[in-house]
Amino acid sequence: MAINYQERIPNNVDLSSDRRLQRALEHWQPKFLDWWMELGPEGFQAADVYLRTATSVDAKGWATYGAVKMPDYRWGIFLADRVEDRRIGFGDNMGEPAWQQVPGEHRATLRRLIVTQGDTEPASVEQQRLLGLTCPSLYDLRNLFQVNVEEGRHLWAMVYLLHAHFGRDGREEAEQLLARHSGDSDNPRILGTFNEPISDWLSFFMFTYFTDRDGKYQLKSLAESGFDPLARTCQFMLTEEAHHMFVGETGIGRVVKRCLELMKELGTDDPAAVRRAGGIDLPTIQRYMNFWFSSSLDLFGADISSNAATSFAAGLKGRPDETRYEDHVEADTVTKLPVPDGKGGVTEEEVPTRNAMNYITRSAYIRDCEIGVKRWNRTIEKAGADFQLTLPSERFNRKIGAWAGLPITPEGKFTDPEKHAAMIGEWLPTEADRQHVRGLMVQVTDPGKMASWIAPPDRGINNLPVEYEYVHLAN
Ligand SMILES: [Fe+2]
Ligand SMILES: [Fe+2]
Repeated sequence: MAINYQERIPNNVDLSSDRRLQRALEHWQPKFLDWWMELGPEGFQAADVYLRTATSVDAKGWATYGAVKMPDYRWGIFLADRVEDRRIGFGDNMGEPAWQQVPGEHRATLRRLIVTQGDTEPASVEQQRLLGLTCPSLYDLRNLFQVNVEEGRHLWAMVYLLHAHFGRDGREEAEQLLARHSGDSDNPRILGTFNEPISDWLSFFMFTYFTDRDGKYQLKSLAESGFDPLARTCQFMLTEEAHHMFVGETGIGRVVKRCLELMKELGTDDPAAVRRAGGIDLPTIQRYMNFWFSSSLDLFGADISSNAATSFAAGLKGRPDETRYEDHVEADTVTKLPVPDGKGGVTEEEVPTRNAMNYITRSAYIRDCEIGVKRWNRTIEKAGADFQLTLPSERFNRKIGAWAGLPITPEGKFTDPEKHAAMIGEWLPTEADRQHVRGLMVQVTDPGKMASWIAPPDRGINNLPVEYEYVHLAN
């Protein structure tokens, strides 16, 4: 169905045919806008930003580009097209017709899944709200805002489900999604990582590469859901999410490239020299990667999880790309996974596959994370530098699950706690690293110009030149 832009809330769900729902969402809309003005991007609400907006949900026409002031962005409700006679693809209800309404017995679980996903969307906007003040270029500033408005839209996507399918509790949950705030000591966001401010652009690129990719895997699992409106919502969100990871991958790639340029100019691979020349050295990039990768792994939850088993059995949350697995029921199958043996070593534990869903999803995520790392390493190799970026072991620096708090090296080996404590500054960003990176963050707003620590992108947005004025600042 085409998207109706004539209405106050653009949508392709025939919202006007359900007056009660429409009124309820129109009531929520000004609260959303208040939230956006208060906790959205600081300092640029009056600027014209070259943004894409969804105009249909098919592969071709879904994005149109044009200059928009962010508060005028057409946030709306867009679901992927309905598949006729869609069936539940996994779990105990496999083969039955997909649910168009919330099945009563799964209502609480489903609501929790939707609220947890929904909470991360506005949280990331809040975390990133000051970044515009130190943008390295107008191109990057525009990308930040594109990500921000789309995370705002993802909030709409979840709020629609809550309003349309969960009655009064759903409306209350929708209010709470605007009431919790990232880092608020009284009323924080649900997941830990989403309460840390993102105060520099290297962290922003790491976030969009690693943490948005966790989002991708959560959405892929929910896109399999037997609850059809959730599946269709998540399918469309994935289309938008791809750009966020592109921002991360190319962003990190450009920081690497700039560092290599400086190393060549200076004729040295000394990190201190790169720093003095206004770049970010490769070991610092590696430490940021170690931090963001490990904290994003925690977002998948514990490897062995009865909650995950329940959601799978019920047909609410599948595995990413469920069709690729042979067995979609996994009734009595087992999976072996590595766990600490309690004596400073690693052993294997056999658990019901349904309980290992987080582990399986995380493993797919890790393989996906490797792709960008390979690309960055190719750039390093081509430049002739003797350095390789690597993802740390999934056991390193974990806060959640069986590996939490253990003295493990980035290579995944146990070490004694004292050695571990002594080495941590080699493995994770130190205060000095953070200070250096923060010190480089100065706002650059001349069209086409880049900050000292980042190379220009290979191409602009939507075939426009890199020098295009992607954000027209209000005077
Ligand atoms: Fe999102
Ligand atoms: Fe995202």
